[in-house]
Amino acid sequence: MVIAIAHPNIALIKYWGKSDPEKNLPASPSLSLTLSAFKTFTSVTIDSDLKNDVFILNGNHVENYKLTMIMNKVRELSNCPSYAIINSENNFPTSAGFASSASGMAALSVACNSEYNMGLDHDDLAKLARLGSGSATRSIDGGLVIWPTGSHESSFGQQIKKPDQVPLAVLSITTKSSMKKISSTQAMEIVRMTSPFYRNWITSSTKDFHLACKLITEKKWEQLLMLAETNSLKMHACTLASDPAIIYFEPETLKLINFVQKVRQEKQLPVYCSIDAGPNVKVLTTQDKLESVLTEFKDWHPHVSLPGMGAQIID
Ligand code: PMV
Repeated sequence: MVIAIAHPNIALIKYWGKSDPEKNLPASPSLSLTLSAFKTFTSVTIDSDLKNDVFILNGNHVENYKLTMIMNKVRELSNCPSYAIINSENNFPTSAGFASSASGMAALSVACNSEYNMGLDHDDLAKLARLGSGSATRSIDGGLVIWPTGSHESSFGQQIKKPDQVPLAVLSITTKSSMKKISSTQAMEIVRMTSPFYRNWITSSTKDFHLACKLITEKKWEQLLMLAETNSLKMHACTLASDPAIIYFEPETLKLINFVQKVRQEKQLPVYCSIDAGPNVKVLTTQDKLESVLTEFKDWHPHVSLPGMGAQIID
């Protein structure tokens, strides 16, 4: 048996649209920060008596075609036909916009690489994780990670700054921990096919990505966070305009967006927000102001993350 740990990541520049839905290739490049507070622990145990893989998520048996697809790929690459017991535990709400699929697929890929003796290097591991869930390719690494567009061979997560080189912090705030109404894959396809803003979103987000990389090189951290907030709201604007409309915001989400703006204006603190495909909000800030920011947000009971490490084997 092998146990791996992986953290989810928050995209500062979002992946929201695929050029190839089967291989999870993105239509625009993205950038993320791996989050230390949340963890997925996944154990994989090969059992040659099994007739199928067994998936257990937070203590419950689950069926998931993406997991099956990854395990079939693992058997193909490793030349080992055996099935396995996969046991995964998250210390955060599953499928509520906290990117559990990213950490889940990253932990699974790293655990399988070891248990099935696959010998994959970093890049091939990041490609395997991407096949399970696009954003998982960015959870193979810690710190700041880019994911360029391209083919199966060239499009995967790559670290650009190690965790200790990134002076940022993230407050994850749960506004609602129920399951998502619609999967991100389904939502991306509806948006691509029906939102009149989709093409502009892809062009605009690609520009945001290049600007974000420049801001990181120049260590303009607050400007990076400002850009991340704009990018996230653009993604939601494009999504709201699809047919049928896809609305991830709950009343509490909007309340929190307003509160972030209020704290920024009234307290002059560097706080910005980013929201993924769910109702929860990530409040982005710089580590030097973390204490003052925490005082402002304490009633929202945030989980505080510093830049997290990449996925790794722990046992
Ligand atoms: O990797 P998926 O299919 O769960 O999609 C992730 C989509 C967002 O979280 C909304 C954006 C991102 O880049 O992580």
